[in-house]
Amino acid sequence: MSKKPTLLITRDMPPRVEARALVSYNARLNQEDKIYDADRLIAAAEGVDGLLICGTEPMTSGVLARLPSSVKIIACFTAGYEHVDLAAAEARGIVVTHAPDALTDAVADLTLLLLLGAARRAGEGEAMMRSGGWDDIHLLFMTGCEIRGKRLGILGMGRIGRAVAKRARAFGLQIHYHNRNRLDEALEDGATWHADAASLLQCSDILSLHCPSNAASRNFLNSDRIALLPEGAIVINTSRGDVVDDEALIAALQSGRLYAAGLDVYRGEPNNIHPGYARLANTFLLPHIGSATVETRSGMGLQALDNLDAYFAGHPPPNRLV
Ligand code: 8YV
Repeated sequence: MSKKPTLLITRDMPPRVEARALVSYNARLNQEDKIYDADRLIAAAEGVDGLLICGTEPMTSGVLARLPSSVKIIACFTAGYEHVDLAAAEARGIVVTHAPDALTDAVADLTLLLLLGAARRAGEGEAMMRSGGWDDIHLLFMTGCEIRGKRLGILGMGRIGRAVAKRARAFGLQIHYHNRNRLDEALEDGATWHADAASLLQCSDILSLHCPSNAASRNFLNSDRIALLPEGAIVINTSRGDVVDDEALIAALQSGRLYAAGLDVYRGEPNNIHPGYARLANTFLLPHIGSATVETRSGMGLQALDNLDAYFAGHPPPNRLV
């Protein structure tokens, strides 16, 4: 039997993922789950054939240049891959894969949770119950905003955007979207395509962000674009924090120009998030748990292993980026 490839797994993984990795690989685990800085990562990668990494290990051109030459593949546990400099990896001949499928339903579910939570003031209500501050019942008490009949604007109608649309239809929302290219009729499923983002914003009573983080999307939701949204719109973000200009969003929430925001992702997460969000009553905030179900996190790791297995068996990895 040929020698098992050596695999460095940079974070503590779900048990099913580690168990499978230990069967197929000479796997180096990180069960302590201490995040590797660049120096530790380079040292831990000595003699390794492949890496299984998360968003916590940025593969910048500097890190990639220092990786031992034995490293032939980097499999990301994540769907997003803005933490990997793909051009630098390609230049070094390192294959990079991601895990785009397993998290679709979990993130779509959480998007609806944020949408409902923001519209129905769930954060305020929860905080009141925990603080023991509920002392009255009257008819104007904690009235929120109905979502039925509203227009949901989806920026980025990929797998997750479409799964959100499917759920949102059941709540009576009208679906609008912007993608560079219009989807075919079956995938569109009655949704209205907007050729440009400005046109989508103008009709988004609720705007849900599902675009990847890249040079084109960074700071997309700035004050000029917020100004295009209908008065009292709701903003939902489960993509990446840097798609939003925090100052602009906070100002619009504070002034009442926007009704509410439901956020799962933040610039500077986890330790350096803009403090303004937590001070506002009209934000419904979760700590980047879009994919955090036991089933989904296992599924993501198993998909990363599928990519590694294919590569080491001499086949094209199904989710190869470069
Ligand atoms: C990650 C994510 O699971 O996959 C992505 O792109 O953002 C999340 O689902 C999370 O960042 C843990 O690494």
